[in-house]
Amino acid sequence: MNIEYLNKIKLEARNEYIPIVLDDTLEYILNLFDKKIDSILEIGTCIGYSSACFTQLLTENGKIDTMEIEDIRVQQANENLSILGVKDKINIIQGDAIDMLPTLINANKKYDFIFIDAAKGKYLEFFNYSLQLLKDSGIIIADNVLYKGMVMNGYNGHKHRTAVTKLRNYIDYITHLKGYKSEIIDIGDGISVTKRM
Ligand SMILES: C[S@@+](CC[C@H](N)C(=O)[O-])C[C@H]1O[C@@H](n2cnc3c(N)ncnc32)[C@H](O)[C@@H]1O
Repeated sequence: MNIEYLNKIKLEARNEYIPIVLDDTLEYILNLFDKKIDSILEIGTCIGYSSACFTQLLTENGKIDTMEIEDIRVQQANENLSILGVKDKINIIQGDAIDMLPTLINANKKYDFIFIDAAKGKYLEFFNYSLQLLKDSGIIIADNVLYKGMVMNGYNGHKHRTAVTKLRNYIDYITHLKGYKSEIIDIGDGISVTKRM
């Protein structure tokens, strides 16, 4: 991979407040698996930064499916992934993940790792679809679940109330779900890590 270009798009995204995965969250994920994996699903491609980084987790023939709703982001991601030299490992699925996830379920797709990193208000829907797409040994990680600390600090303001309430409901749901073990880890903007028991 073209690391110089990867650093360039990372810095540009940070300068332009484009929300890409934080360094400590990425490092955690890249160290989470004890062997290479075959299949990754990402919900929220943005400029393709995290999916490019996740190619490090893949076996030689491993593949990533990543979903993005915004045309401009799909264009940027396509261009970036080509320049980075990882386009052959990554399939960008354009559209609303809420509509696209059922098509993967119908196609009987299964993934080793599913990364939820799109509209916070829809995490619970993304998660429930993801359960149907997860291999028995697979892991679901959702990013930004602590949302700048507001989810756990009793925040009751108006501006972020809907997102914060939905993230609290998401955490409550996944941590009480029978047959699954979920941990909330205070790293980056907070991640949830879910595995089958
Ligand atoms: C936080 S960014 C993803 C960052 C990326 N994972 C990274 O770390 O490089 C979230 C992206 O999800 C996209 N998105 C939001 N809602 C979506 C939806 N319902 N379906 C698909 N993509 C969505 C946004 O357009 C945005 O580009």
